[in-house]
Amino acid sequence: MTALPSSIDAAADLLRAHGYVCERSLATAVFLALTLKRPLFLEGEAGVGKTEIAKVLAAGLGRDLIRLQCYEGLDTASAVYEWNYPRQMMAIRLAEAAGQADRNALARINIGALTRDIYSAEYLIARPLLRALEPHDNGPPVLLIDEVDRTDEPFEAFLLEVLSDYQITIPEWGTIRAEHPPIVIVTSNRTREVHDALKRRCLYHWVDYPNAERERAILAAKHPGMARALSDQVVAFVQSLRGLELFKPPGIAETLDWAQALTALNAQELDQANVDATLGVLLKYQDDIAGVRGETAARLLAQPQAAQ
Ligand SMILES: Nc1ncnc2c1ncn2[C@@H]1O[C@H](COP(=O)(O)OP(=O)(O)OP(=O)(O)O)[C@@H](O)[C@H]1O
Ligand SMILES: [Mg+2]
Repeated sequence: MTALPSSIDAAADLLRAHGYVCERSLATAVFLALTLKRPLFLEGEAGVGKTEIAKVLAAGLGRDLIRLQCYEGLDTASAVYEWNYPRQMMAIRLAEAAGQADRNALARINIGALTRDIYSAEYLIARPLLRALEPHDNGPPVLLIDEVDRTDEPFEAFLLEVLSDYQITIPEWGTIRAEHPPIVIVTSNRTREVHDALKRRCLYHWVDYPNAERERAILAAKHPGMARALSDQVVAFVQSLRGLELFKPPGIAETLDWAQALTALNAQELDQANVDATLGVLLKYQDDIAGVRGETAARLLAQPQAAQ
């Protein structure tokens, strides 16, 4: 377990050491979230590095990463805990069978003890939120609540309670409270507005597309072997694409994928042929691809330096 960063620079260095290149405002948000022990709410377009922050923090701080992937219909049985009903039934059947084999034993089955037994930890399946509140050998874990905008409002209200007090109630046991709260990262792609009350519990940061300089640094961190001239061209092209009216502009994830694809094709530089052939790595909507392929791509290629 590594100590928490003691400054904004230390937070940026910690992320950087694990391949995450961030601007100062994000490093500040991370530093404050860790220092003030508040959840960090990251909102932004797809593929800009929201989820990656949690992974990198867990690796950098030597903590376990516990991920709750949100989706419509997510319920407490999948997010918090559930009883292992088949095992509970088996325990009851075994007790009954033992009783039938030995009539005296039947009289001895203590219903209270059996009930206590089948509601013991052995029969409880802890899901991410409960696991995040339990003690961990290497310190409080990083809890990633990913894509919270996909859940429905009742679950969001439940999350609000968990994030307020870091406690969960299991009726058969009572209230379980984290001795040390986990480091919480909540992400949203803003497919719908998340309730103010939940955001208020958190520090908020909008993760934007990187500028050309930072995107070049990300590319250098993730693909150190790539020729400088090609990576400059890749970044310039992607940055220009983001300035067009596209249905879905490429994120950092797509830039990295494109760099990998061009390397796999042994491309030395961008040209009309390799751009047109690989647009599907960058753009995921046919209308976007059709709009860029050909003339637009040629125009963007002709002005790579201007876009940097
Ligand atoms: N600042 C960065 N430094 C290094 N790599 C980055 C950075 N931002 C994003 N990446 C890389 O981009 C990819 C996508 O990042 P990530 O999955 O975190 O995006 P996201 O914002 O969670 O996207 P989505 O909304 O689609 O889930 C990852 O492979 C990650 O390594
Ligand atoms: Mg994500």
